[in-house]
Amino acid sequence: SIAALSGCGSSTNHADASQKEGIQQMTIKISHVVAENTPKQMGALKMKEVIEEKSEGKIKVEIFPNSSLFGDKDEYQNLIANNIQFIMPEMTKLVGSEAGFNIPAMPFLFESDQAAEAFWDGEKGKEVLGRLEKDGVLGVSMWPNGAKQITNNKRPIESPEDFKGMKIRTTGGQLLEDLFGTLGAGSTSIPFGELYTALQQGTVDGQDNPYSNIESKKFDEVQKYISIMGITRVDYALLTNTTFWNSMNDETKAIVELGIEEGTTVARESAAKLNEEAREKLIENGNSQINELSEEQIEEFKEFLTPLYNEWKEKIGTDIIEDAESR
Ligand code: LMR
Repeated sequence: SIAALSGCGSSTNHADASQKEGIQQMTIKISHVVAENTPKQMGALKMKEVIEEKSEGKIKVEIFPNSSLFGDKDEYQNLIANNIQFIMPEMTKLVGSEAGFNIPAMPFLFESDQAAEAFWDGEKGKEVLGRLEKDGVLGVSMWPNGAKQITNNKRPIESPEDFKGMKIRTTGGQLLEDLFGTLGAGSTSIPFGELYTALQQGTVDGQDNPYSNIESKKFDEVQKYISIMGITRVDYALLTNTTFWNSMNDETKAIVELGIEEGTTVARESAAKLNEEAREKLIENGNSQINELSEEQIEEFKEFLTPLYNEWKEKIGTDIIEDAESR
């Protein structure tokens, strides 16, 4: 609980806000839920390298990957409490605070990482990232992972009917629940750190994630089929909290901002490479039967999901989605 972790809020995590000049001594904690050979971890390592180097060691950066400090259920609250200073949750995990974070779950909205990046770097994307300020949270940038592939233990997915009767794990939010519901599947959200066990025990039949998350968490050991289709994406919001952010003087903040900038570049540059390497490893492992949907099969899903798309285009905001469509 936050109270039990109050020790984490010790003075080393709070810069001395009264220090107007010079680099402030402090510890920055970065917490995330995925494995280490992932875009998120690459970006975090770059942030650590740049911030520690430019502050001549006055700022220490500690990274806690793989839900080792906080998992899906409690990372956001601990960010707000300033027990940690940065998290990079998959955006649909934030929909409870802001419906705009359903955007990565809009079926076939973005054709590439670059299109998604261009939207989130643009005025509309930045406006959505800014909507967490009511929680005392600042959305500072978007880090991509990539298109999500479907894994399951029932059958290869080739057309909308193939989902009928399945139970799919999602990252949460009404859009994903509606999406799988439209395909005739039940859905439930399970924390990423508990997903392998849930798949192994058959609590759910399948899940969807980019290759890097499927391979790095060895989901192919417990999933018979991988269907390459990219209906939705995993994109992250790099978040910090206003307590920490406002405690820094200009010189210190400039160093942290440089770390964010270079971490964002590395996360973006590594996403495609790490997912391609993971795809090749999955093929090499040979644990799952892999099928890639054809253009026609993808087209059938697009048509089938058009009513859902149009309904959610309204809900999220036609102007926002049209901006995303233009990228
Ligand atoms: C998941 O929970 O499936 C992923 O979003 C985890 C992550 O942060 O990539």
